[in-house]
Amino acid sequence: MSTSFYVTTAIAYPNGEPHIGHAYEMIATDAIARWARLEGRPTFFLTGTDEHGIKMVQTAAAQGLPVRELADRNSARFRELAGLLGLSNDDFIRTTEQRHYDSVQEIWRRMLKSGDIYEGAYEGWYSVRDEAYFDEAELTEGEGGKKFAPSGAEVTWVREPSFFFRLSAYADRLLAHYEAHPEFIAPDERRNEIVSFVKGGLRDLSISRTTFDWGIPVPDAPGHVMYVWVDALTNYITATGFPDEDAARYKAFWPANLHVIGKDIIRFHTVYWPAFLMSANLPLPRRVFAHGFLTSEGKKMSKSLGNVVDPLTELDSYGTDPVRWYCLREISFGQDGDWGREKFINRNNADLANNFGNLAQRSLAMIQKNFAGVLPVATPTEADKAIIGVAVKAIAAMNTAMQTQLIHEATAELVGLLNAANLYFADQAPWGLKEDLPRMGTILHTTADVVRRAAIAAQPFVPTAAAKMLDLLAVPPTERALSDALRPQGLVAGTVLPQPEPVFRKFDLKASAAP
Ligand code: MSP
Repeated sequence: MSTSFYVTTAIAYPNGEPHIGHAYEMIATDAIARWARLEGRPTFFLTGTDEHGIKMVQTAAAQGLPVRELADRNSARFRELAGLLGLSNDDFIRTTEQRHYDSVQEIWRRMLKSGDIYEGAYEGWYSVRDEAYFDEAELTEGEGGKKFAPSGAEVTWVREPSFFFRLSAYADRLLAHYEAHPEFIAPDERRNEIVSFVKGGLRDLSISRTTFDWGIPVPDAPGHVMYVWVDALTNYITATGFPDEDAARYKAFWPANLHVIGKDIIRFHTVYWPAFLMSANLPLPRRVFAHGFLTSEGKKMSKSLGNVVDPLTELDSYGTDPVRWYCLREISFGQDGDWGREKFINRNNADLANNFGNLAQRSLAMIQKNFAGVLPVATPTEADKAIIGVAVKAIAAMNTAMQTQLIHEATAELVGLLNAANLYFADQAPWGLKEDLPRMGTILHTTADVVRRAAIAAQPFVPTAAAKMLDLLAVPPTERALSDALRPQGLVAGTVLPQPEPVFRKFDLKASAAP
């Protein structure tokens, strides 16, 4: 089996500025991609923006802008965010690019060839905010007879000529696929939700619109543009070079290993998308992982409450690594979570500054002071061997957790290891061994090697700080892979270490800016 790894985020609508929920998804997916690279897997990581659809048209009209200008402006914001988060994406796709038009139109032709597209007329409820159709039974009624989708967005009655996709014909094949590949939908509760939805029966899906033209034209059908979800989902395959099935990226990376998305768009990814691919006779992605939603200080983020967290402000105040760490450690991946300043500061101070930072700083400073910055020789006792064993075991457990995207378990393992290493350091009390330098040297060498292993394993989560720590340990870039964290051989005695400096910062809640 190929070891290559292809992972994607959802592509966001650039109808507004990115918020912390978007940043969260990017950070989590980046950690997953970086972990795969740490394992030595050839990795392709994609993110981007979803630029067509009525929502974009309406937002542009409200702002008095040409829709392309809105898309250009806000897509650039998402790209900028990716840069500030230290994202390691290999590509950034925009659905307004020519390569994507070619790919979507080819998918359409293939679905047509399979006999799954037919012409008709759509009449029913549509939610612009969700860019989705709803049955009457799914709606709730509000004041003045207004109707609302489950997301709370208002729906409008739509009546227009439309092409349909024969989704109803795919229920059995989808159910068979879920059964044969239980790992396809994660977490499990989401899988159960989708299985019962599909068991309830599927209706054919309206897949073209005629009342606006901001979309990808349907081949040979003037006046029709594609439904934005047919367009959007296809981005994942476009970026591999499709429809050129000889493209090196396509060959190496399709089907995708993992689509990371939010829980609100799981139906599109686990029902529509696999059905489209089945119809087009293309291989299906191996897994879709739905993460939860972030609230802000315990409340749903909304423009009217004025509590939308701007990731750029947070990054500006605190730097990338603390923001990443909070997202990856505080929130159970797959569950809802909250962005809260006090919790954020506590996490940073406890895990990064105190636990990780102090261990590194104290051991490296002692090497500088007592051994002139030259890594001393180790003659390990049982206690020293034991702590190295703890490190290897914890990092192996991190690897196991990351195979199924249990990111919060991986980060918890890392903290467990750092706790154990701090205890070891306190127990061995090297500062009291001025009369026994060989023993002091062994303890410092051992601690530095635990820090080395932990820093290697920390790279996917806090890449900047981990790299700095590995520099302080003079670890060459060629020795920063997962296998180097797990190998029996440690640091090399006699290595000259640079002057240590703190890698993490502590924040003060009182001094920190109000949201
Ligand atoms: N354009 C579609 C996705 C198409 S993918 C082929 C879309 N865009 S979005 O901008 O509304 O959302 C982008 C991603 O951000 C989605 O995965 C969504 O679930 C996620 N989030 C949006 N708000 C969020 C939070 N408050 N918290 C966490 N994630 C959130 O849907």
